[in-house]
Amino acid sequence: LAAALVFVGFMGAGKSSAARRAGRDPLDADLELERRTGMRIADLFAREGEAGFRAREEQVVLELLGRASPGQPVALGGGAVGSERVRAALREHTVAYLEVDEETAWARAAANRSRPLARDREAFGRLLREREPVYEEVADAFLPQGSLPAALGAVRALRPPTKLLWGHGHPVWVGDDAWPEVREHDVVITDETVRALHGERLRGLTFAVEPGEAHKTLATAETLWRALAAAGVTRQARVLALGGGVVGDLAGFVAATYQRGVPVVQVPTTLVAQVDSALGGKTGVDLPEGKNYVGAFHQPEAVHVVPSTLATLPAAERAAGYAEVLKTALIAGGRLWERVARGDEPDAGIVLACARTKLAIVAADEREGGLRAVLNLGHTVGHAIETATGYARYRHGEAVGLGLLAALRLSGQEALRAEVEALLAARGLPVRLEGEPPEAIVAATRADKKRRDGEVPFVLVAAPGDVRHGQRVADADLLAAVRELAR
Ligand SMILES: NC(=O)c1ccc[n+]([C@@H]2O[C@H](COP(=O)([O-])OP(=O)(O)OC[C@H]3O[C@@H](n4cnc5c(N)ncnc54)[C@H](O)[C@@H]3O)[C@@H](O)[C@H]2O)c1
Repeated sequence: LAAALVFVGFMGAGKSSAARRAGRDPLDADLELERRTGMRIADLFAREGEAGFRAREEQVVLELLGRASPGQPVALGGGAVGSERVRAALREHTVAYLEVDEETAWARAAANRSRPLARDREAFGRLLREREPVYEEVADAFLPQGSLPAALGAVRALRPPTKLLWGHGHPVWVGDDAWPEVREHDVVITDETVRALHGERLRGLTFAVEPGEAHKTLATAETLWRALAAAGVTRQARVLALGGGVVGDLAGFVAATYQRGVPVVQVPTTLVAQVDSALGGKTGVDLPEGKNYVGAFHQPEAVHVVPSTLATLPAAERAAGYAEVLKTALIAGGRLWERVARGDEPDAGIVLACARTKLAIVAADEREGGLRAVLNLGHTVGHAIETATGYARYRHGEAVGLGLLAALRLSGQEALRAEVEALLAARGLPVRLEGEPPEAIVAATRADKKRRDGEVPFVLVAAPGDVRHGQRVADADLLAAVRELAR
């Protein structure tokens, strides 16, 4: 294994200090370049121009990558990944991308204002946005600002082609080899369908519930608590939640509460769960009175996303997951929205991008004081549809698709609504509401957990990538938007 641990990222991302923390004998391409030429980067740049500088940089980087020993940390300059040869060489190594926002990068680059690329604020921002996709292309680990040093252990354990994202203090592994190890004391909670298809991948003491939203109840939770107790499960246990969002929410809740809480490891097997429900630490069950009415925040110890499990997912479930992909892409905007809007099938790359979007939002606001509420886009009407139709007529994702259409109407986004309707319809997702009168749906929104002082705040869309939470909507407008669905 020749793989070095290479840190890439923009100016000010902290590559050199990360490399110093990551292990012994760190190599630093910029320092090496300065040492060899006896000049500061800024002077070298001025003397040789960008092209000349890049040629020298490429040579030094290729040499360092060629001689680095396994696990040795290497920090690259921000622009080194612009070279095709460097990118090719990086494929042999483990690459950790240190993400940084523009503000922080600019503030940290202050010490380097003599550098030609850190002088003009606007050009600096443009360059950051230009390079982001290149860092993403070479990255094995995506490390949000502030995730070091906590994430270092996981980064060292990473074996490409598995990818590593960083959640709220825990690793999120993505890849077809990313199955967790079952340890002594672990218990697996799954549903009958998933057990039959994928259960042999996680051998251990297993409890399987009946599949479906109708079983995401306190009664099922009680059955599980008592089964764990009867089996003598102690607080040494971890719960491995193998399945879709129903299993993840239910098993997460059981783990949060059993003997006042044991760790949960999420192993999501549906598209809904891989892009959304397994991330973020929300767990719970439904009451007849309302969806997800009883639950707890319980961050997983780890999340293991194995995209190939989706191969056995029925088409209708995959389509339902697509609605959450659409929602996430509308929130993220940018390249994710571009891919989804042009009709791309959700592949491992889209799953990864959705997961990063959700993790970034949760990191900014774990307990939904504000920003996290944007994740409810389409869910106010979606949940109301599920509640009013007794959790039986529509899948969660199908209801969310309808909810997105209502939210886009309330946002006054005609063209975008038509675009989203076409994307939903192309996957056979419902774009018309059936089964309950619009008045019943509007009445059900009043039971929404997010209601404050009699009003349910809405998430509205100004444009893809510009989504606003806490918006007021008049009852008459809401009724009109739901009526439009029922036409
Ligand atoms: N906690 C959160 O933040 C969050 C976010 C979004 C949704 N959710 C919840 O997620 C739930 C919906 O999740 P879901 O759509 O995954 O539903 P689900 O868990 O019911 O799975 C759908 C169906 O697919 C089957 N299945 C699962 N994996 C399979 C596989 N690999 N191959 C074949 N069949 C498979 C299941 O047995 C089930 O019948 C809802 O209860 C929703 O409230 C929670």
